[in-house]
Order: sequence, then structure tokens, then C-alpha cells
Amino acid sequence: MNPFRYSEPVPPAELIDRDEETKVLVETAVSGNNSRLVAPRRYGKTSLLNRLGDAVAKEGWNAVYVDFFGVLTLADVSARVERAYADQLQGPVAAWFAGFRRRLRPSLRIGADEGVGAELDLALDPAAEPPLLERLSIPKRMFERTGTRTLVVFDEFQDVLTASDRADAVIRSEIQHHGDAASYVFAGSQLGMMRSLFADKRRALYGQARALDLSPLDPADVAEYVDRRFRDTNRDAGEAIGPLLDLAQGHPQRTMLLAHLLWERTPPGGRASEQEWLDAARRAMVEVQDELRAIWTGLSAGQRRVLTAVAENREGIYAAGRRHGGSRGGSAKAAVDVLVDTGEIYADPATTTGYRVVDPLLGEWVAGGRMGT
Ligand SMILES: Nc1ncnc2c1ncn2[C@@H]1O[C@H](COP(=O)(O)OP(=O)(O)O)[C@@H](O)[C@H]1O
Ligand SMILES: [Mg+2]
Repeated sequence: MNPFRYSEPVPPAELIDRDEETKVLVETAVSGNNSRLVAPRRYGKTSLLNRLGDAVAKEGWNAVYVDFFGVLTLADVSARVERAYADQLQGPVAAWFAGFRRRLRPSLRIGADEGVGAELDLALDPAAEPPLLERLSIPKRMFERTGTRTLVVFDEFQDVLTASDRADAVIRSEIQHHGDAASYVFAGSQLGMMRSLFADKRRALYGQARALDLSPLDPADVAEYVDRRFRDTNRDAGEAIGPLLDLAQGHPQRTMLLAHLLWERTPPGGRASEQEWLDAARRAMVEVQDELRAIWTGLSAGQRRVLTAVAENREGIYAAGRRHGGSRGGSAKAAVDVLVDTGEIYADPATTTGYRVVDPLLGEWVAGGRMGT
């Protein structure tokens, strides 16, 4: 079995590092405070949150993980919350919840026959709020009844704004009373939206959660992990580790993808050479091709120029933008902001442009001329 997973969150025991982040999140939660975990997609947020759930369970807390990805209405938000408790609680609290659940008022559901117009109206309908508030109050009721505290994780939290621009206000209005009963972790991959939810004074959750970023993985941790997992499965990563670290740039999912492909090309008892590495790297570019094209296609012309300047990293963004056919002026700045907010680039003072492409494979492909493989 290939020991490198790259397409779903990794189980707690398989995480590379993230020990400090886990410790900070646990300490913040058990001291009764909220956190927000913001990092680009596939940086290991969900994997870390799973480990966090295990860690607080050891402290005697309940842990409930709610994924808001793709919610369209407050009724969806309610349903996700309710189902998370139904699926994840264990022991006596699960029995308590089975009873409590039967007394919840129904959350609004939209019938398929009501059409798009009805959906939009209901999304804005204040009648959707009471059932949601009731579900948000579960950890408080549970604490009153069973004396147990709960860590509630809201993943892809920014998606609640799709359901309603007031969703954060509704959520705050309930959870602000949870004091001892519950702590919250709000996680998200849309950096700009997460910033406006928590760092904008006009928003309800302003200042309500301690910020924690995920940095790229440390090369020493990656090297040790890849080497060990190769050895544990009767292989030697050999000379390929160096180039793997160089290409993956500490990006968690890209690291695991490249390690997976390299392992696949290394026979049992064998040692990876430059040949296996080059094969694996080429194969990775083929696998991600459609995805890279889709990202590129979704960008405006100005954003494409900035992304290319950042990927090439030869000169400042403005000079490079002009060389790639852009006009001068403020539009490059606006494009930089969008690319940062959507998690395509991040500030890195060590580079010529001051930014780096988050996904190193996207960076390679863009800098290499954006051609098919
Ligand atoms: N700390 C880590 N150690 C090993 N692999 C990781 C780590 N963090 C992320 N990954 C890799 O990244 C992929 C995506 O992780 P995931 O937790 O789903 O990220 P996110 O929730 O940020 O999108 C996983 O399948 C795994 O391959
Ligand atoms: Mg995730």
C-alpha cells in the first residue's frame, strides 16, 4: 500500500509536524477561547482539525466537526450542524442528543418544486433563523444537562455568507452565551472572506477568535517523514528527496502527491534515482493539468499577468506586468489583492516580486509557458 495520501485529509497519526499548531489550538479551546485557522485550500486544515478533535477528546471534551462547504441557505447551515451532532457524539451525550433532537423544530427545507425564486426568498427569510439558533444552542444545552464541554469546529466557515450575509451575526448572537460550555474553531480557505469576517470592525465576529495561520511544511520534517515512510515499506527515497523538497516547496498536498508518485515508481527493495524522480514529477504535472488550466481560466487578464510575474520571479511585478502586455497603474495592485485573497499567492519578502505562488506546480506550469503536457 502506498503510504502517501494526497486526495483526502490524512489521519492524525500520519500528519507531518503541526505539533505546535495542535498545541496552540488545544490550549486556546480548553481555556475557553475561540480560534480561527486560515490557510489556502489543501494546506492541511481539515487534517489538523481532525487531530485537534482527538486531542480535546483526551481532555474529556466532546468534539464536533461541521463542514459548511457548499451551503446555500440557513436551512442548509442548520441541517449541517444538526447532522454533525447526530453523527459524531459518543457515549452518554449521544443518547442525550437522540432525545433532544426529537424536540427540535423542523428547519426549513426547500422542496424541489419551488424553484430558484423560492430558494432565494427563503435564504433571506428571517423564519430560517429560529431553527438555526436552536441548533447552535446544542452545546450549551448539553453542558447544562451533562456537564460536558464541547469543541465545535466550523470548517469552510466563509461559506455561511453564501447562505446569508447576516449568518455571522446570527451565529454570534447565540454562541456569545456559550462561555464555559463550548469553544469554537472557525476554519476557512478563502483568506479574504475570512479576514473580513473576523478583522472588520463592522462584522459581528470581529475580534472573536484568535488567528492561527498554517505555514508551509519545514523541509527537515518533510525529508525525515518521506525517508522513514519509504524505509518502512522496504524502499529508499535516495537522491530523489532533495529535488522533491525543491519542487514541493513545503506545500502539504503537493509534497504528498509527489512522494506518492515517486514511491509508485520505486520497486520493492529499490532506491529512487534521478530517473524515477523525473518520471514522478512529469506525471504530477499531467495529473494536475486540468486543475491548473481551470484556475488559469478563472483569472482575469490582469490577474494572469500578475500570477506570471510572481511565478517567474525575475523582476518586480509592475515591470513584469508591462513586459507581459499589461498597462501600468493600480490594476496590478488590485490583481495582487485578489490573488492573495483567493489563496493563489502569498507575501514572501525573500522573493524578487515579494510574493510566491501557493501551489508550486501551478507556479512551474505558469513560469514554464502554460502549455499542455
Ligand atoms: N501535515 C500534513 N502532513 C502530511 N500531509 C498533509 C499535511 N497537511 C496536509 N497534507 C496533505 O494535504 C492534503 C489535503 O489536506 P486537507 O487537510 O484536506 O487540507 P485542507 O483542509 O486545508 O484543504 C492531504 O490529503 C495530505 O495529502
Ligand atoms: Mg478542508
